[in-house]
Amino acid sequence: MRIDRWVSQATDLSRKAVQAAIKAGRVCVDGKPVNSPAFPVRAEDQVSLDGEHLKAPGARYFMLHKPAGYLCATVDAHHPVVLDLLDEPNKHGLQIVGRLDLDTTGLLLITDDGRWNHRITSPRRACEKTYLASLAEPLSESAPALFKAGILLKNETHPTRPAEVQSLPNNQCRITISEGRYHQVKRMLGAVNNRVTALHRERIGAIALDPQLAEGQYRPLTPEEIAAV
Ligand code: URA
Repeated sequence: MRIDRWVSQATDLSRKAVQAAIKAGRVCVDGKPVNSPAFPVRAEDQVSLDGEHLKAPGARYFMLHKPAGYLCATVDAHHPVVLDLLDEPNKHGLQIVGRLDLDTTGLLLITDDGRWNHRITSPRRACEKTYLASLAEPLSESAPALFKAGILLKNETHPTRPAEVQSLPNNQCRITISEGRYHQVKRMLGAVNNRVTALHRERIGAIALDPQLAEGQYRPLTPEEIAAV
């Protein structure tokens, strides 16, 4: 990893502040000042800032039970953002894995491991996501077959990938999709003359929302969950 990113992740400093510290000769690798922000840090290197040894940044992986009303963004002028719910140092290194709408609740993954994030969000991987949707109307009988065949959504050129939907009591349904198009679940249910009144994500791939987490709570992923992706 580049030294500026490494130090930024190991401290609460922004990339810019680290670059200034490097320029000022305050960042050393094995006791020698580094002079380039692109200097590659190896696993065995000892890095210090102002003479203080820095602990290597480990990648972090969290699951959050997202409440409604929080935006999947790092900052926003109008709404609280999901990162506000995390009591962690160095939050600027964290990335939100995929997006949920402002009013959607449920499982959200957050990490600073860009490759792991990409494994989940890359369209080529077709990672499955399961949602519980509350509907304005009973699910039409034709919906499961239509979703399986793929639906051509408004203003799109390709039908959706095959999705599974199961009707549940009380005008609810459980739907599993393997894409992440804009408002996809709401638009798919809209295409079968229905309307989503509440949406909750239960699962991403093999990672299910921990039932112990109340809305707004989060926890680190277990090594098994991290490896399951
Ligand atoms: N599909 C939607 O319509 N909204 C979400 O938040 C997630 C999937």
